[in-house]
Amino acid sequence: MVSTHPTGVKHAGSQYLPQRSSTNAISPNQELLPLTAKVNSSDSLEIGGCDVTTLVQQFGSPLYILDEETLRTACQQYRDTFKQYYQGESQVLYASKAWNCLAVCAIANSEGLGIDVASGGELYTALTAGVSPDKIYYHGNNKSRAELLYAIETGVNIVADNWYELQTLVELAQQQQPVRILLRLTPGIDCHTHDYIRTGHLDSKFGFDPGDLDEVFTYVSQQVALNCVGVHAHIGSQIFERQPHRDLAALMVQWLTKAASYGLTLTELDVGGGLGITYTESDDPPSIEEWVKPICEVIQEACAAENLPLPKLLCEPGRSLIATACVTAYTIGSSKTIPDIRTYVAIDGGMSDNPRPITYQSVYRAVVANKMSAPLTEKVTIAGKHCESGDVLIKDALLPKTQPGDILVVMGTGAYNYSMASNYNRLPRPAAVLVANGEANLILQRETYQDLIRQDRLPERLKS
Ligand code: LLP
Repeated sequence: MVSTHPTGVKHAGSQYLPQRSSTNAISPNQELLPLTAKVNSSDSLEIGGCDVTTLVQQFGSPLYILDEETLRTACQQYRDTFKQYYQGESQVLYASKAWNCLAVCAIANSEGLGIDVASGGELYTALTAGVSPDKIYYHGNNKSRAELLYAIETGVNIVADNWYELQTLVELAQQQQPVRILLRLTPGIDCHTHDYIRTGHLDSKFGFDPGDLDEVFTYVSQQVALNCVGVHAHIGSQIFERQPHRDLAALMVQWLTKAASYGLTLTELDVGGGLGITYTESDDPPSIEEWVKPICEVIQEACAAENLPLPKLLCEPGRSLIATACVTAYTIGSSKTIPDIRTYVAIDGGMSDNPRPITYQSVYRAVVANKMSAPLTEKVTIAGKHCESGDVLIKDALLPKTQPGDILVVMGTGAYNYSMASNYNRLPRPAAVLVANGEANLILQRETYQDLIRQDRLPERLKS
């Protein structure tokens, strides 16, 4: 991990390279650049054996570049750490809201992960990618009837969020097999993260209120249409603290005990996601192992104390699986210097491909891919190209001297960037390439102007 903030000319973009050591496994979520990042002999950034500047020439700009090795390493670390520390069965689900597309679902699937989906569209994508329905878990606080029917018909696990949904499921399930559900409960556990991404506190739109627990267990135990197999909770995202998930694990075992007193044998326990990542050198998230191990320990101890068999343990990481695996490459264009105030350097994307800075005031770091060893002599503000003053990707970025045509690479953009991207100002969404061993495969085609008007309809009377 990078330990000091770049403050002088000694520093260069190359300082963000991962420090690999054979004895010390790198937890991808603690790095800034993908694990395969290197600087090649042309002083250019290379990811997955591909020169970033060449990728931009080949696939256009802006470009999401996804490193397969980093993504697979994170999947494997989650999967294997659960195997190592948990004596019962475990299943890691990829929270695909972080980046849902066919290729990413297929990679997670090939590593043995299941998929967490949060809409009919995400479900459709996961199924099309070949994920088996029994490894798909469907979340959401307001799934439509059509979405619920789709989930029932395809036989995926449904994480029931509220009374309305339970009742709708009972109604829809009449003609079918009992529907396999988990109950999402609000744990009343707080954590320190942005307000928009906290979900475990009592004042949350998600899940059953803890005060309703008795009533929910009673209702569910009486419904032949429902096969309730477990409980689920998710307390928030980009979390660095370790205690909240320990508290959650202990609390969830109490829920299993309580359910048993209603005759419900719950065999699955899903602790959600939430592990944070390193966006800047001052971020210090736990490693994947440091997050997984205590959860396993707490559940094992609590189950032993309660004399409960170990449930199948599930978790749903999104950000910590994929954020670090991807960078976004942009081309630098215009700039504007306002004396004694700041210099804006503009890139050819912005809030449409990365809405996180304007939405959550998220802070990112960037390097200039074609000048990796050049000293960082300039402090500039990276502006997007949208007609909105708030469209600023990075304030006070330390960069080498840049000129139009240079390639700016923003790090840690794999999670909630493409998945939250828009067409604001009718910018076509960028392409994405998957890189591995010197090969680059297109996984998302760049949108075209034709794509932008594909859903437009011009009433006859408006045609000239
Ligand atoms: N499970 C559930 C039920 C969730 O709601 C989420 C995230 C996750 C798992 C995955 O959490 P993660 O491991 O990625 O922290 N758009 C925001 C993040 C919203 C998170 C929504 N739920 C952002 O860009 O920061």
